[in-house]
Amino acid sequence: MPGVSLVGSGSACLSATLSNEALSHLVDTTDEWIVSRTGIRQRHLAAAEDSLGSLAAQAARQALAMAQVEAEAVQLILLATSTPDDLFGSACQVQAELGATRAVAFDLTAACSGFVFALVTAAQYIRAGAFDTVLVIGADVLSRWTDWGDRNTCVLFGDGAGAVVLQASDRDRLLGFELCSDGTLNSYLKLPYQATPEPLNADLAVQKGTFAPITMNGREVYKFAVSRVPEVIEKALFRADLTTQDIDWLLLHQANQRILDAVAERLQVSPERVLSNMADHGNTSAASIPLALDEAVRAGRIQPGDTIAAAGFGAGLTWGSAIFQWG
Ligand code: UT7
Repeated sequence: MPGVSLVGSGSACLSATLSNEALSHLVDTTDEWIVSRTGIRQRHLAAAEDSLGSLAAQAARQALAMAQVEAEAVQLILLATSTPDDLFGSACQVQAELGATRAVAFDLTAACSGFVFALVTAAQYIRAGAFDTVLVIGADVLSRWTDWGDRNTCVLFGDGAGAVVLQASDRDRLLGFELCSDGTLNSYLKLPYQATPEPLNADLAVQKGTFAPITMNGREVYKFAVSRVPEVIEKALFRADLTTQDIDWLLLHQANQRILDAVAERLQVSPERVLSNMADHGNTSAASIPLALDEAVRAGRIQPGDTIAAAGFGAGLTWGSAIFQWG
């Protein structure tokens, strides 16, 4: 059975930023509250001319360049996103923009767990021998669906995109994983379709509407994250026949610095082994893990051979962990 290697990473550069101070002019909040409760100092926002697809393609191009892989060699593009430009999917637009003419491309939706779910999904295609070169992209423009008058949510989110290239290899560097869903907790975090009936004739009506902005029960999602994320990482580590002592980096979905700290403490991982770009980016949903990964790789913090315990969690509710070696 072929193994899986992660051979390149990339991310999109979004120059527009929104500081906590600027947010305090939009809603009743302060820089002090946001920093002390979340660790976030600013978030990046997509520009008017950016599309989800163009940000995803930018991240993908960087990842391909690092991996020294031509776009024509890619056989599968998995785009993890909850904010496509088109409800039919945005992955094909990314395929076209990259010129990845041989690749089959589709979207995968699992909110903030999307990147981990897509990484594991892509690895199964490689292990099965179906594809040997795959692009996995996590990208979200949550600013489109944020209620900018709701201080409970608008201070948390930012926009971003990150990508990795996976290739078939002799040694399998995806060491273990565990994925979970619990739809009974769905109401805690939602971006729901809301509609009113539009009659077609006397007997029939269709439901016409749009998506309502994000709503979240922050306290419940917080409790869920700090209890279930350590558990899922331990299960993935067990499958990899490793313990937390064996990992070089803890790479969590960047939702809240307090969640990162609490999970690290439960797992007894020291703070210097926890990757965080919370202060600069906030929560970028499916983009947060590949974005933090790419920044750490380019900064020389993550080195080839390092073992990384990644975990995503969020709407669905969904959560999951993948343990892998870089490079
Ligand atoms: O990516 C998906 C995963 N999402 C998450 O993981 C989010 C998980 N949840 C959290 O990170 C935290 O629950 C939040 C950061 C959302 C909120 O922090 P908290 O410490 O749980 O605050 P809270 O909701 O318990 O609210 C405490 C107080 C409330 O006031 P009262 O009722 O005590 O008077 C809120 O109204 O803080 C108030 N508050 C704010 N104050 C200033 C809530 N948001 C703000 C705000 N600025 N932006």
